[in-house]
Amino acid sequence: MAPSGIPASCPPSGGVAHPGVIETSPGVAAMTAFRTLDQVEVSGRRVLVRLDLNVPMKDGRVTDATRIERAAPTVVELADKGARVIVISHYGRPKGKADPSLSLAPLVEPLAAAVQRPVAFATDCVGPTAAAVVDALADGDVALLENLRFHAGEEANDPAFADALAELCDLYVDDAFSAAHRAHASIDGVARRRPAYAGRAMQAELDALGRALESPTRPVAAVVGGSKVSSKLDLLGNLVERVDVLAIGGGMANTFLFAKGVEIGASLAERDLAGTARSILGKAEAKGCEVLLAVDAVVAAELAPGVATSLVAVDAVPADAMILDVGPETVAMIADRLAGCRTLVWNGPLGAFETAPFDAGTSALARAAAELTDQGRLLTVAGGGDTVAALAHAGVLERFSYVSTAGGAFLEWLEGKDLPGVAVLRTPV
Ligand code: 3PG
Repeated sequence: MAPSGIPASCPPSGGVAHPGVIETSPGVAAMTAFRTLDQVEVSGRRVLVRLDLNVPMKDGRVTDATRIERAAPTVVELADKGARVIVISHYGRPKGKADPSLSLAPLVEPLAAAVQRPVAFATDCVGPTAAAVVDALADGDVALLENLRFHAGEEANDPAFADALAELCDLYVDDAFSAAHRAHASIDGVARRRPAYAGRAMQAELDALGRALESPTRPVAAVVGGSKVSSKLDLLGNLVERVDVLAIGGGMANTFLFAKGVEIGASLAERDLAGTARSILGKAEAKGCEVLLAVDAVVAAELAPGVATSLVAVDAVPADAMILDVGPETVAMIADRLAGCRTLVWNGPLGAFETAPFDAGTSALARAAAELTDQGRLLTVAGGGDTVAALAHAGVLERFSYVSTAGGAFLEWLEGKDLPGVAVLRTPV
């Protein structure tokens, strides 16, 4: 796992699986009102490129290079245009101190392989060590600087640290949407000190997300799952205002069923949040958002592989049983609603998908959504750690329109927050 927990199974390449449905065109970029690489001359300039190289590693080796592969086109484009490319990133959470186990040095080779050219390495990201490596770059060369979070000034967005980063460059490019929810020096401070642009991966992500919720083709549906309502209150509150259909699954749906007076037996639920669940349902009704909850469920005495299961109507859950997945009737009901929608945003699994057979509901709905995507009837945008793993497990990652590898940033975007790393790219040059 990555230090921050992105799943080991992410899309093997860029998330835009259906170029016919979502494409990054100059028109779209203009519509989204952030600055892109189309608006800047980079030849001979020192360009500081913020990537998210917080990738899963085991024994010093990258186990999932998705984030590196997605970022590579930006680095290649800049280098091909004659920029002196200076890549910066955080890795893990070293809390402001140098920690050799969280060095970016093991990322030099994978980055060089992805951008197909040598990558120089600086053992510090600011000061004379970094400056010496940057000064040695010729036009078209690439360097990687050591982990930003070895300095406390990074997470504190310290002005002196942002100044030190800015000294290394003439221009700044952010290609790290998955870190855009952090108002850190390498994301916010330095972007205020130099002309700042979205890289190509950031641009594609913002285009896809914009089409999913900001200016979607309606009707729009959301599928939200996961274990806890408490971790997704803001997200649900935002979605009921924006989508036409909201399907709620996973453990969090149990809280909603309980709130509606359904006997949920021994199912996990946040029973103390029944009032909150009712107010979300009330808000949905007021906004004209149809909320879909399970009508049938797969239950068992415990969550364990190979355990005996039964399929029951949702109002017939035995007192000693736990709801661990949605049933086929529920999947068919949600799929039927999706068939009438044009846009889908998906976050979170519908059942305990990591333990068979409780993956069946999530996988079946994922395949139905992929089918509609294939037919060009539905634009499908998904994201969040468990979601990516669940879609990979269902074998549909490449069939969704866009799958974000961002965890926290994707959730904050679903909550309707203006992410600092995106907001700063809209600041006039
Ligand atoms: C991530 O992996 O989600 C990003 O790199 C952010 O990491 P963080 O949660 O440590 O800021």
